[in-house]
Amino acid sequence: MLQRLSMTAAILGAALALAQTAAGADAQRGRGDFQSTCAGCHNSAAEVAGRAGGNSASNKARRLDAFLFGHYAPNDRARADIIAYLLSL
Ligand code: HEC
Repeated sequence: MLQRLSMTAAILGAALALAQTAAGADAQRGRGDFQSTCAGCHNSAAEVAGRAGGNSASNKARRLDAFLFGHYAPNDRARADIIAYLLSL
Protein backbone atom coordinates (compact mmCIF):
# COMPACT_ATOMS: atom_id res chain seq x y z
CA MET A 1 0.00 0.00 0.00
CA LEU A 2 2.76 2.37 1.02
CA GLN A 3 4.74 1.29 -2.01
CA ARG A 4 1.84 2.07 -4.33
CA LEU A 5 1.38 5.46 -2.69
CA SER A 6 5.00 6.40 -3.16
CA MET A 7 4.87 5.24 -6.78
CA THR A 8 1.84 7.45 -7.37
CA ALA A 9 3.70 10.32 -5.75
CA ALA A 10 6.71 9.74 -7.98
CA ILE A 11 4.56 9.71 -11.12
CA LEU A 12 2.75 12.87 -10.03
CA GLY A 13 6.07 14.52 -9.31
CA ALA A 14 7.41 13.66 -12.75
CA ALA A 15 4.26 14.98 -14.44
CA LEU A 16 4.50 18.18 -12.44
CA ALA A 17 8.16 18.61 -13.37
CA LEU A 18 7.29 18.22 -17.05
CA ALA A 19 4.48 20.76 -16.82
CA GLN A 20 6.74 23.20 -15.05
CA THR A 21 9.42 22.86 -17.71
CA ALA A 22 7.00 23.84 -20.44
CA ALA A 23 5.24 26.56 -18.47
CA GLY A 24 8.44 28.03 -17.06
CA ALA A 25 10.26 28.34 -20.39
CA ASP A 26 12.09 31.64 -20.55
CA ALA A 27 13.00 33.12 -23.95
CA GLN A 28 15.46 35.55 -22.38
CA ARG A 29 17.35 32.74 -20.69
CA GLY A 30 17.11 30.82 -23.97
CA ARG A 31 18.81 33.67 -25.78
CA GLY A 32 21.78 33.32 -23.43
CA ASP A 33 21.81 29.55 -23.86
CA PHE A 34 21.70 29.93 -27.64
CA GLN A 35 24.62 32.35 -27.49
CA SER A 36 26.75 30.04 -25.39
CA THR A 37 25.73 26.67 -26.86
CA CYS A 38 24.63 27.18 -30.46
CA ALA A 39 26.03 30.44 -31.79
CA GLY A 40 29.49 28.97 -32.31
CA CYS A 41 28.06 26.94 -35.22
CA HIS A 42 24.89 28.90 -36.03
CA ASN A 43 25.57 32.60 -36.19
CA SER A 44 21.99 33.53 -37.00
CA ALA A 45 19.31 32.38 -34.56
CA ALA A 46 16.59 33.71 -36.87
CA GLU A 47 17.90 31.58 -39.71
CA VAL A 48 17.98 28.50 -37.46
CA ALA A 49 14.42 29.22 -36.31
CA GLY A 50 13.31 29.52 -39.93
CA ARG A 51 14.87 26.21 -40.89
CA ALA A 52 13.17 24.30 -38.10
CA GLY A 53 10.08 23.64 -40.22
CA GLY A 54 6.56 23.10 -38.90
CA ASN A 55 3.52 25.03 -39.99
CA SER A 56 2.42 26.37 -36.61
CA ALA A 57 4.16 27.47 -33.44
CA SER A 58 3.20 24.33 -31.54
CA ASN A 59 4.19 22.09 -34.45
CA LYS A 60 7.49 23.90 -34.74
CA ALA A 61 8.10 23.61 -30.99
CA ARG A 62 7.45 19.86 -31.12
CA ARG A 63 9.85 19.39 -34.02
CA LEU A 64 12.54 21.47 -32.37
CA ASP A 65 12.06 19.62 -29.09
CA ALA A 66 12.58 16.25 -30.76
CA PHE A 67 15.52 17.44 -32.86
CA LEU A 68 17.38 19.42 -30.20
CA PHE A 69 17.19 16.63 -27.63
CA GLY A 70 19.88 14.89 -29.71
CA HIS A 71 21.48 18.10 -31.02
CA TYR A 72 23.36 19.94 -28.27
CA ALA A 73 20.38 20.57 -25.96
CA PRO A 74 19.73 17.37 -23.96
CA ASN A 75 18.88 19.38 -20.84
CA ASP A 76 15.09 19.76 -20.64
CA ARG A 77 15.15 23.20 -19.05
CA ALA A 78 17.71 24.66 -21.46
CA ARG A 79 15.97 23.10 -24.46
CA ALA A 80 12.59 24.57 -23.48
CA ASP A 81 14.20 28.00 -23.02
CA ILE A 82 16.03 27.85 -26.36
CA ILE A 83 12.81 26.83 -28.12
CA ALA A 84 10.92 29.70 -26.47
CA TYR A 85 13.64 32.05 -27.71
CA LEU A 86 13.64 30.66 -31.27
CA LEU A 87 9.84 30.89 -31.46
CA SER A 88 9.98 34.50 -30.31
CA LEU A 89 12.08 35.57 -33.31
C1 HEC B 1 29.17 21.82 -33.43
C2 HEC B 1 28.31 22.62 -34.28
C3 HEC B 1 26.85 22.81 -33.91
C4 HEC B 1 26.33 23.19 -32.71
C5 HEC B 1 27.04 23.49 -31.40
C6 HEC B 1 24.89 23.30 -32.92
N1 HEC B 1 24.58 22.97 -34.20
FE1 HEC B 1 22.71 23.00 -35.03
N2 HEC B 1 23.46 22.22 -36.76
C7 HEC B 1 24.80 22.00 -37.02
C8 HEC B 1 24.94 21.39 -38.33
C9 HEC B 1 26.25 20.99 -38.99
C10 HEC B 1 23.61 21.25 -38.83
C11 HEC B 1 23.15 20.61 -40.14
C12 HEC B 1 23.72 21.22 -41.32
C13 HEC B 1 23.06 22.50 -41.63
O1 HEC B 1 21.91 22.47 -42.07
O2 HEC B 1 23.68 23.57 -41.39
C14 HEC B 1 22.72 21.82 -37.84
C15 HEC B 1 21.35 21.91 -37.98
C16 HEC B 1 20.49 22.55 -37.08
C17 HEC B 1 19.09 22.81 -37.31
C18 HEC B 1 18.31 22.47 -38.56
C19 HEC B 1 17.69 21.13 -38.52
C20 HEC B 1 17.00 20.83 -39.83
O3 HEC B 1 16.12 19.97 -39.80
O4 HEC B 1 17.34 21.43 -40.85
C21 HEC B 1 18.62 23.45 -36.22
C22 HEC B 1 17.18 23.92 -35.96
C23 HEC B 1 19.74 23.59 -35.30
N3 HEC B 1 20.86 23.04 -35.85
C24 HEC B 1 19.66 24.21 -34.07
C25 HEC B 1 20.70 24.25 -33.15
C26 HEC B 1 20.56 24.75 -31.78
C27 HEC B 1 19.28 25.39 -31.20
C28 HEC B 1 21.76 24.57 -31.19
C29 HEC B 1 22.14 24.85 -29.74
C30 HEC B 1 21.41 24.09 -28.74
C31 HEC B 1 22.67 23.98 -32.17
N4 HEC B 1 21.98 23.79 -33.33
C32 HEC B 1 24.00 23.67 -31.93
C33 HEC B 1 25.85 22.30 -36.17
C34 HEC B 1 25.74 22.66 -34.84
